[in-house]
Amino acid sequence: MSSHDAIPAPGGEHASAGGGHYPAHTPKAPRVAGVEFIGTGSYLPEDKITNAGLERIMDTTDEWIVQRTGIRERRKADPAKHESAWTMASGALENALADARIPADQLDLIIVATVSSEMATPSVASRIANRLKAGKAAAFDLAAACSGWVYGLNVAHEMIRGGGITTAAVIGTEHLTQYMDYSTAGRGCAILFGDGAGAAVLRRAADPAKGAIAWSMHGDGTGWKDLYIPRRPDDLPEGTDPAAVKMGQMFMNGREVFKFAVGTFQSLIAETLDKAGVRAESVAHFVCHQSNVRILEAARERFGIPQDKLYVNIHRVGNTSAASVPICFDELRRAGRIHPGDKVMFLAFGAGLTWSSSLWQF
Ligand code: COA
Repeated sequence: MSSHDAIPAPGGEHASAGGGHYPAHTPKAPRVAGVEFIGTGSYLPEDKITNAGLERIMDTTDEWIVQRTGIRERRKADPAKHESAWTMASGALENALADARIPADQLDLIIVATVSSEMATPSVASRIANRLKAGKAAAFDLAAACSGWVYGLNVAHEMIRGGGITTAAVIGTEHLTQYMDYSTAGRGCAILFGDGAGAAVLRRAADPAKGAIAWSMHGDGTGWKDLYIPRRPDDLPEGTDPAAVKMGQMFMNGREVFKFAVGTFQSLIAETLDKAGVRAESVAHFVCHQSNVRILEAARERFGIPQDKLYVNIHRVGNTSAASVPICFDELRRAGRIHPGDKVMFLAFGAGLTWSSSLWQF
């Protein structure tokens, strides 16, 4: 776990007391900058998988899915239209760059959070850099499942804030429908996930007060076996009957993940507010991973968060893992609901197990 609590004031802290054994010198200002979002974008495939469509292929009902998850439909990438993790990510970043009004060659860094890239190498980030002509931008992928984009946001923020780079793109993209078992055996998991991508462009800001005022990144590898996509029988947790799990398809222990998510989500909000010394009512928006509407509602009730401060789009797009938070944020921003001076908390949790937050001052 690592975190920071506040942005140090620029200048002065390392000033020489003078008159000692060391020559007097003019201290350099600490390399601390503000960070701001200058653009966002998203990409959602047109094809939909509705609950009615699922009723036709597995033993489930619209009523069961809506009651347990809040989901009514999710999007599905169509390989015939060349939709995949990297092409959706590329579309989302193009939209974010258009919103930011900067060309791709101004990017110093591209981070792509995904668990569903087409190839083990090169990274999705490298392919995007090539397609969008991002010049010599550093480019890498990050695999932290549903927490991936928030992990990436914190990494890019710290790199900009520390002065190493000026402009970064952080993208979340997932083509998860390819890993779903749409037979009745996989119905607990397959109803949840959809495809899509969301992107944000961050830039160094003159005002050091702008940027993350508190963040957290956590993991607990002991929970890896509650959510995984095995490729070989050797990948299965010890003692698992290979006949019970299909290779190449997502396995989820829904009840365990639910318990983890409800508890973690709430403690993550409390921890982040504590670190920042901020009360829940001062936060304008909680932009949360869309895993299950019941998990979101439990947190909303515990912290007394009004409905309009906790954005929900899971009914339209399902759980898009790493793409979930940036898609929500892009929708909020495009609706004109993010204002200068707002505090916005990003939150996510998922496979690994992993969880992460980032509380921003706009
Ligand atoms: N349609 C109809 N019935 C279903 C079903 C479906 N799609 N999926 C499961 N069921 C049945 C089960 O077979 C079980 O039947 P039984 O009691 O006769 O055995 C019953 O519903 C309850 O199953 P259970 O798995 O306990 O359901 P649940 O209330 O825990 O809901 C989830 C299942 C997946 C919706 C819930 O566990 C969940 O949301 N977990 C967290 C998932 C998540 O957030 N994952 C991503 C993390 S990033």
